[in-house]
Amino acid sequence: MADRPDILILNGPNLNMLGVREPTIYGSTTLAQIEGNCAAEADRLGLEVDFRQSNFEGELVSIIQQARDEHAGIVINAGAYTHTSVAIHDALALTDLPVIELHLSNTFKREPFRHHSYISDVAVGVICGFGAHGYLLALQAMARLVGVVDEDGSNA
Ligand code: DQA
Repeated sequence: MADRPDILILNGPNLNMLGVREPTIYGSTTLAQIEGNCAAEADRLGLEVDFRQSNFEGELVSIIQQARDEHAGIVINAGAYTHTSVAIHDALALTDLPVIELHLSNTFKREPFRHHSYISDVAVGVICGFGAHGYLLALQAMARLVGVVDEDGSNA
């Protein structure tokens, strides 16, 4: 359906390696499987999803800039750039879209360098520590932010 809000789910560096990358931390679900699960959940919620991944900071910035015209909200797992990228912070700050920050792992239980995020202060909220399921939780939260479900999760 063309009038469904289109949500950008943006994945940063090394997330293309999910499944083989430190599975005790990130789980064994691949990014392709997460994409499929997101498509099914988006369909259930009445959303469209545009699922992207890049290992390049500048490309992530360009995708965020374009989202202003093409999308209704952004779910972002910026990977390691979460902890380093002022450029991604600035790109998110200039979009008028609701932003949800997402991490598979609970970054606060990990090394101190993962405790600071350049994204949290431009996000509506943060979901971390729930593994691949966090992507579905983020879509459910986004459905409320863009008005396709009510605050209690029922259809708007
Ligand atoms: C991550 C956490 C980051 O600290 C790390 O650099 C990642 C993945 C996560 O999803 O848990 O690449 O964003």
